[in-house]
Amino acid sequence: MNRLERFSTIFLIAGFCFFIMALLALGIAPALMTSGIPEDGGMPKEIPAEFQVYYKDLNEYHEALFLGRDIYIKEACWHCHSQYVRPVGGESMMYGAVSTPGEYENLLNRPHLFGTRRVGPDLTREAGKKSNDWHFAHLYDPRSTTPNSVMPGYTWYYDESTNPPTPKKEAIAVVAYLQQLGSWVKDGKRTVHDLNEVTLPPAEE
Ligand code: HEC
Repeated sequence: MNRLERFSTIFLIAGFCFFIMALLALGIAPALMTSGIPEDGGMPKEIPAEFQVYYKDLNEYHEALFLGRDIYIKEACWHCHSQYVRPVGGESMMYGAVSTPGEYENLLNRPHLFGTRRVGPDLTREAGKKSNDWHFAHLYDPRSTTPNSVMPGYTWYYDESTNPPTPKKEAIAVVAYLQQLGSWVKDGKRTVHDLNEVTLPPAEE
């Protein structure tokens, strides 16, 4: 065995060890940590009053949050929006304190949707920033609330035979999801945000 061959053996073994280390650190350790979270970890304990029109019980409401999350993934909202306040560039002046791991300890964050691009604003603590009505109008036609917005309108989640268009189950789920984002951490403790003084369009039958 010449010298070069010995080195390549060392590199091969080192490479294998690094692979195992990465698997432990990024695959197995996080899986062990999240499995320790109770089934309702971080999920709201009550339905905000306004959403009670649509969701009879907490299970339905939780289902809607997950439907909203799935649509957020399916429509690639994460391609333009991050859910992570980074410790750089004075971001905390714009979005509040830098995100902490505790904020992601809930089922809605499996998988986490940190995102990398910021075509639109960070949504990690979107809950309660806007009214439901604002979200319904914005999701249908972003330029109706924000002139010059480059965000596309998600018109297919609305029944367009009415005037104004009525949000379908999916649009309601997306808004429920958005209004929940980050509501679990306010002033360091988990809360269900207050959605009082918000009117909703009539419920879908
Ligand atoms: C092409 C990029 C793009 C995509 C895709 C996109 N957005 Fe946006 N979004 C933006 C931009 C730009 C803004 C800022 C202007 C505005 O308010 O419309 C914005 C604003 C928002 C806001 C307002 C945040 C605030 O507090 O001001 C919400 C909520 C939002 N988007 C949700 C969504 C959801 C949900 C989806 C997917 C269904 C989505 N966006 C997809 C670009 C995008």
